[in-house]
Amino acid sequence: MPSAARVAVIGAGPAGFYASDFLLQAGFEVDVFDTLPTPFGLVRAGVAPDHPKIKRVTRAYERTARHPAFRFFGGVQLGVDVQREQLLERYHALVYAYGTATDNRLGIPGEDLPGSHAATEFVAWYNGHPGHADRDFDLSATRAVVIGNGNVAIDVARMLVLDPDEIAPTDTANHAIEALARAQVQEVVVLGRRGPAQAAFTNPELLELGELKRADVVVDRDEVELDEHSAAWLASDAADQTHRRNVEILWEYAGRPLAGKSHRVVLRFLRSPLAILGSSDEAVTGLRVGVNALEPDGRGGLRAVATGVEEQIDCGLVLRSIGYRGVEVPGVPFDARRGLIRNDGGRVIGDDGERATGEYAVGWIKRGPSGVIGTNKKDAHETVDLIVADRDAGRLGRPEPEVSDAAAVAQWLRERVPHLVSWDGWRTIDAHEQALGEPHSRPRVKLVRVPEMLDVAHGGVLPR
Ligand SMILES: Cc1cc2nc3c(=O)[nH]c(=O)nc-3n(C[C@H](O)[C@H](O)[C@H](O)COP(=O)(O)OP(=O)(O)OC[C@H]3O[C@@H](n4cnc5c(N)ncnc54)[C@H](O)[C@@H]3O)c2cc1C
Ligand SMILES: NC(=O)c1ccc[n+]([C@@H]2O[C@H](COP(=O)([O-])OP(=O)(O)OC[C@H]3O[C@@H](n4cnc5c(N)ncnc54)[C@H](OP(=O)(O)O)[C@@H]3O)[C@@H](O)[C@H]2O)c1
Repeated sequence: MPSAARVAVIGAGPAGFYASDFLLQAGFEVDVFDTLPTPFGLVRAGVAPDHPKIKRVTRAYERTARHPAFRFFGGVQLGVDVQREQLLERYHALVYAYGTATDNRLGIPGEDLPGSHAATEFVAWYNGHPGHADRDFDLSATRAVVIGNGNVAIDVARMLVLDPDEIAPTDTANHAIEALARAQVQEVVVLGRRGPAQAAFTNPELLELGELKRADVVVDRDEVELDEHSAAWLASDAADQTHRRNVEILWEYAGRPLAGKSHRVVLRFLRSPLAILGSSDEAVTGLRVGVNALEPDGRGGLRAVATGVEEQIDCGLVLRSIGYRGVEVPGVPFDARRGLIRNDGGRVIGDDGERATGEYAVGWIKRGPSGVIGTNKKDAHETVDLIVADRDAGRLGRPEPEVSDAAAVAQWLRERVPHLVSWDGWRTIDAHEQALGEPHSRPRVKLVRVPEMLDVAHGGVLPR
């Protein structure tokens, strides 16, 4: 085993960068691959554009990329441009960090009607992800419903009611700035299937809803009264400070007089979507919901059970924000039920239940689509500790890859994927985007089409 074993990290999001940083510190050489010519995963294509401070975390990733043993191969998709077996022939270890690219399904009638969209798609669209730049969202309805009680639901609800003046100075994709400025949406209903105490919001995000420039936040006092189970649960160790504070914030909202702003965000609880209404040649016209009660789930939590009472909410747009989901990549062991790579603390477990040597996972594709950016740091540390232990025990993977020379691997990649983008290529795109934004006091104007990105990156230097 050479002293500097080489690792391919697949996915340049937070998990991929934290893993790279720990691997570099442990003496590995690291090649990071991403489908897109641009790095940073959901920090670029997920985090809401009106939260620019959060995106500054990329400065730490840029520091990692400056390490001499780091290389970036953008525009290379595992499973399409290169296959797992080919990488196993060329690296001592693979670290899968490719996130969870799709959405969970509700499995109810009308889910695919025009006007019913996954929040994943809406988020990717307003953030300028090239896979979604040509999507068209009809925002002519006056009422939208967002299904789900997580922070993504809050993000999309907020984006729908922000003042165009608040969106214009951000790095929201130009197509979305224009569409959102024309949007007719005046009311966004955010629907939780459980109660206020079980909402997955974090406190700052929930508080931000109460401070919107042009939208009142509306909460019905009856829907945030705690039932006996929730009251007991909230007082127990199973609940944490975030849940308790959420309930306090929601009570405050329920008691707050409306300020008479032009828009509203209405938070509703204990309502499950039963059917999205409309017909195939007609956009969504509404949502049929069932009223729920809560009961202990036998595992220390509370689950929603239908009371049999149903209601209808008229609306012309539905955004389903019920969580992301991993996509299977050919050859990589996949737990289809959970939508993630089968693994034990980050060591990939093969279809035979045995450890797949030399293969590891980090981030959302390892543990599922939850947790903030920083959660992926601890998670990557856990996986890299295992990689280091395996290296030190001589159990990393194949004793020696067939192609062990880093320059030969880069040459092979360039032949396979002539359009690949190096770190310098990305820096050229980055500088170009920032220069486009500068006259408008925007952090950047995003390029949203891959050919455009490749044109700009062309001035960049190909990987070493
Ligand atoms: C809408 C939204 C908003 C969020 N806002 C915040 C926030 O404000 N603050 C916060 O702390 N956290 C936020 N989060 C959470 C945070 O974004 C995640 O914790 C984090 O991005 C997960 O990191 P990851 O690297 O596992 O996945 P990702 O960030 O998804 O990165 C995966 C990368 O893999 C690449 N990839 C996918 N498939 C392949 C393939 N086959 N081959 C090569 N590359 C591939 C993708 O292009 C992507 O770059 C938000 C999440 C979402 C969904
Ligand atoms: N600003 C930020 O820090 C920020 C912004 C965005 C995202 N994030 C993070 O990114 C992660 C993902 O966020 P997320 O909002 O996608 O996921 P999430 O936090 O897991 O929330 C998903 C929501 O969907 C609901 N849900 C699931 N299945 C449902 C169904 N069939 N019908 C109705 N509701 C259903 C869940 O309800 P149940 O609880 O009842 O299952 C839950 O309220 C989270 O950790 C989040 O904190 C952070």
